[in-house]
Amino acid sequence: TDRSRGLGDVYKRQDIDISIKKEKEKGMYIQILTDKNMPISEISDALYSSFAEHLGRSIYEGIYEPGHPLADEDGFRTDVLELVKGLKLSMVRYPGGNFLSGYNWRDGIGPKEKRPIKLDLAWKTTETNRFGTDEFMKWCKKAGVEPMMAVNLGSGSAMDAAELVEYCNHDGETSLTAERKRNGGAQPYRVKMWCLGNEMDADGQIGHLGAQAYADKAKEAAKLMRYVDESLELVCCGSCSTDAPTYPEWDRIVLETLYDRVEYLSLHQYFWADNNDNDFYASSVCMDRYIETMAGVCDYVRTKLRSKKQMMLSFDEWNIWNIPQSGEAKWGIAPHILEDSYTLKDAIVFASLLNSLLCHCDRVKCACLAQLVNVIAPIITQKGGAAIRQTTYYPFALYSAYARGIAYRPIVIAPKLSSEKHGEFPAISVAIAQQADGTLNVFLSCFADETSEVELELRSFGATSCFEHIVMQGELMRRNCFETPDCVKPEEGELVRKRGEKFTMTAEGVSFHVLRFHTEKSKEGGTIYDGHSKPVL
Ligand code: AHR
Repeated sequence: TDRSRGLGDVYKRQDIDISIKKEKEKGMYIQILTDKNMPISEISDALYSSFAEHLGRSIYEGIYEPGHPLADEDGFRTDVLELVKGLKLSMVRYPGGNFLSGYNWRDGIGPKEKRPIKLDLAWKTTETNRFGTDEFMKWCKKAGVEPMMAVNLGSGSAMDAAELVEYCNHDGETSLTAERKRNGGAQPYRVKMWCLGNEMDADGQIGHLGAQAYADKAKEAAKLMRYVDESLELVCCGSCSTDAPTYPEWDRIVLETLYDRVEYLSLHQYFWADNNDNDFYASSVCMDRYIETMAGVCDYVRTKLRSKKQMMLSFDEWNIWNIPQSGEAKWGIAPHILEDSYTLKDAIVFASLLNSLLCHCDRVKCACLAQLVNVIAPIITQKGGAAIRQTTYYPFALYSAYARGIAYRPIVIAPKLSSEKHGEFPAISVAIAQQADGTLNVFLSCFADETSEVELELRSFGATSCFEHIVMQGELMRRNCFETPDCVKPEEGELVRKRGEKFTMTAEGVSFHVLRFHTEKSKEGGTIYDGHSKPVL
C-alpha cells in the first residue's frame, strides 16, 4: 500500500508539472522566492507619512472648512479626518512645498481676524492665513499623526527658523511661548522632524540658491534650531528631481557641508502615465535607481569625511502626478489646482512605488505621499459636500496596514518588458514584509497584459496557508468620482493554491495583489549580516 501511495504521488506530481507547462505556454510564468535569512531591514513607521501644503484646496476645503455640515468646532472636516485615519499615517509634512519658501510663519498665528491676507507667489493664489501652525498641530492630534515641519530657507532667515522651533517646542517662559499658549498650545508641540527648506535647487523656488549657498544657510539654520532644541532630527534638501540639471552634484555638495548636521537627505520624485504604458510601468525601476544613487552619494561623502554616521533618506515627496501644472490660479483663494483623478492603472503603478520604498527600507526611513487631500491626493472633497477615496487610497491603506515589521528581499524570475525610456524591466514588482505576529505579506504589481502564473517559494518562513488575497484588477482606466465613489476598490481574490512546497496564483493581466500567509513561529537566530559585514537585524 505504501508503494502504491508513492506511485500515486508521482502521478499527481506529473499532473502538476503538465498543468504548469500548459500555463507556461499560455502566458507569463513568474517565480518569486524569498528567505527568512534575507531581511532588508525593519520598516520604519515614518515610511507611511504624507504631506499637506497650502496649495489649491489641500488645506482650505480639504482638511479645513468651517461651515461644512461635517466640520467640527475647529472647522476641521470630520469626514476627511475619518478617511485620513484609514491611512494610518505616521507624520504629515507641513506647510510646503513651494509655498514654504515665501511663507512667514508669523502670518499664520494669533487671532484669525488679525492675520494678513497675502499673495502666495509660488502658486499665484491668495492666502488668507486662516489656517496656520496652531491649527495644524491641533489637526494632527485629532488625526492621530505626528507633525513634520519645514522651515523657510527661501525668503526666511536662519533666525526665523530658530524662532519657529522656539514657538513650537520650547518649554520655558518667553514671549514666543507665551504667544503659543495664548494661541491654544498650552504644552510644547515637541515636533521632532524638521525639513531645512524645500527644493532650493529649483530655479523657480522663491529665494533659490546654489548648492554651496544653500548648504551654508542650512548649516546656520540647523545650528540655531539645535541651540533651541538639540533633540531635533533634520532633513536637508536634495535635488528636486532626477531631471534637475544639477542632480546629483547638488546632493554631493550639500552633503559635504551638512553631513554632521542632518540625519536625512530629502528625495522628491513624481511619475506620470506616458502614452507608452511600459514607460509608466517602469516607474518603480526609476525610483530604485534614484534611491540607490542617493545612497551612493551619501556613502561617498561619508567615506570622504571619514564619518561613522550613515545618512538616511527621507523620500518626502513621491506620487503619480499626471495633470499638467496650469497657471489658472490667477490669485484666487483655494482654487482647484493639481486635482488629479487617478485610474486603476495609476493605483497599480503607485503600489509598485511603495514596493520600491520597501525594498530600500534600510536607507529610506521616511517617505511622504505628496499630497494628502485634493492636490495630487488619495482623498478628494467637494466644497460643502462629500469626501471620497481615489484609487490610490487603497494600496496606500493596504501597505500601511500590512507592510509593517521586517521587509525581506525578493528574488524574482520573470519575463522582461521593455520601455523605450528606461530599458528592460521585470513584468512584476514585488515587496515582502513580515508583521510582528508572524503574518507574511506579499505585494505584487503585475504589468503583463496576459495572464501570469505566479509561483511563490516561501518555505523558509514555514508559510502554512494563504488566508487572504486582496486584488485590484479590471478595466484599467476606471476611476472613482463623486457619482460612483466605489467604482474602483480592492476585492477578495481567489486564495492561492499550495502545490507541493510552493504557492501559485494567477494574475489576470495588469493588476495589484496582496497575499497574506500564516507562518509557523520562527525560531530565534543570531545576527543576520548583509553581504559580508553590515548587520541587518
Ligand atoms: O507637491 C507639489 C509640489 O511639488 C511641491 O510644492 C513642490 O515641493 C514639488 O515640486
